[in-house]
Amino acid sequence: MPGSRPSVSTRAVGLAAMIFMPILAPALATSFTGAIVRGIAASAPTAGPSKATGRLPALGWNTWNAYHCNISESQIVAAANQFVSLGLKDAGYEYVNIDDCWAVETRNATTGQIDPDPTKFPNGISGVADQIHALGLKIGIYSDAGTNTCAEYPGSLGHEEVDAATFAGWGIDYLKYDNCNVPSNWTDAPARPIQFDLCIWGQAEVWTWGARVGHSWRMAFDSSPTWSYIISIITTNVNHLNSIGFYSHNDMDMMEIGNGNLTTEEQRTHFAAWVFLKSPILLGTDMSNLSTDQLAIIKNAELLAFHQDGIFGGPAAPFNATANAPVTSPPEYYSGLSSNGMHVFIINTGNSTATKTFSFANIPGLSGGNYTVHDMWTGQDVPGTFSGQYSVSVAAHDTAAYLITQKP
Ligand code: GAL
Repeated sequence: MPGSRPSVSTRAVGLAAMIFMPILAPALATSFTGAIVRGIAASAPTAGPSKATGRLPALGWNTWNAYHCNISESQIVAAANQFVSLGLKDAGYEYVNIDDCWAVETRNATTGQIDPDPTKFPNGISGVADQIHALGLKIGIYSDAGTNTCAEYPGSLGHEEVDAATFAGWGIDYLKYDNCNVPSNWTDAPARPIQFDLCIWGQAEVWTWGARVGHSWRMAFDSSPTWSYIISIITTNVNHLNSIGFYSHNDMDMMEIGNGNLTTEEQRTHFAAWVFLKSPILLGTDMSNLSTDQLAIIKNAELLAFHQDGIFGGPAAPFNATANAPVTSPPEYYSGLSSNGMHVFIINTGNSTATKTFSFANIPGLSGGNYTVHDMWTGQDVPGTFSGQYSVSVAAHDTAAYLITQKP
């Protein structure tokens, strides 16, 4: 019966079999011409996935965190319409992604295809795709590298070509490829450019080879709407910043804004960190319940511009804010470039409001001089001209976000 989450043993079997996944993966992402070699890193293809998509981290929404297996066409089309009505499309949100549980339990005996559940999807997936495309948006789907998905629906193992062709035929633009129930065996074919997310839970040091297979890859097991998850995934990701660039994104998992009891400050940090570490941002809540504050966070134009920058593909990276800056885990001070200039992000990892200070000269690439400090949250310059050090009071678990510009 579908509906259960993968057990530890299921995950372990999947892990052992992941050796084969890079060979399977190109069937759904790009053509594979290399020889079969041993070892997951050694066997990842060298050409990389399609460059016709996936240059920037995905911006969108996904069914899983909001609905798990209880999905239907109406929720998904509603989400697409909400992208338009809530201004999220104008803000850059593009992908409306269907996660696990969209299929019937067995493949079609005649066509060999995975059929959509007709109760959940009376117009099929292509019917949903048409409605999403008509809104100028893109559609994502989910499959699995093993025999079955994590919720025990049909997986793509041994059916990669038919599934790739089916997804392309339906007009799919993005594939999340999960890792449950994987043993071996596959073939391949070129396909429609589909943005390819490896849902590999951070296993097998995926950040070292993931870009040779897909456009993004999960860095850990599933998210939860908790401060401890946010802190732990930032800590993990900060160790692998060299893996992040155009076509190459560490996936910190889908967004929890709107779920659970995160404070407003924690939600700001959740969003800002996914932005400045260039993770895919896939909203994961019933968007009709988003508050004005939550919408303001996820629609912040300046943060989205940093995330979607077409010139600078890398993340912001930690820097030593002052000579005596305390060492925290994760680091609190980050700097990085966008087309607009130099940015500084400051996370207050502590449990109470604190004054945070950085020296302009400590920001890599900057030196002494006079600066304007622009607050990316308010969209306003902080009044005055600053030099030497800058101090700000940051609420518990909040993140300050600035554009720093040297004055002539
Ligand atoms: C997990 C995955 C989740 C969700 C779920 C569906 O393996 O990490 O994001 O896709 O499977 O069953």
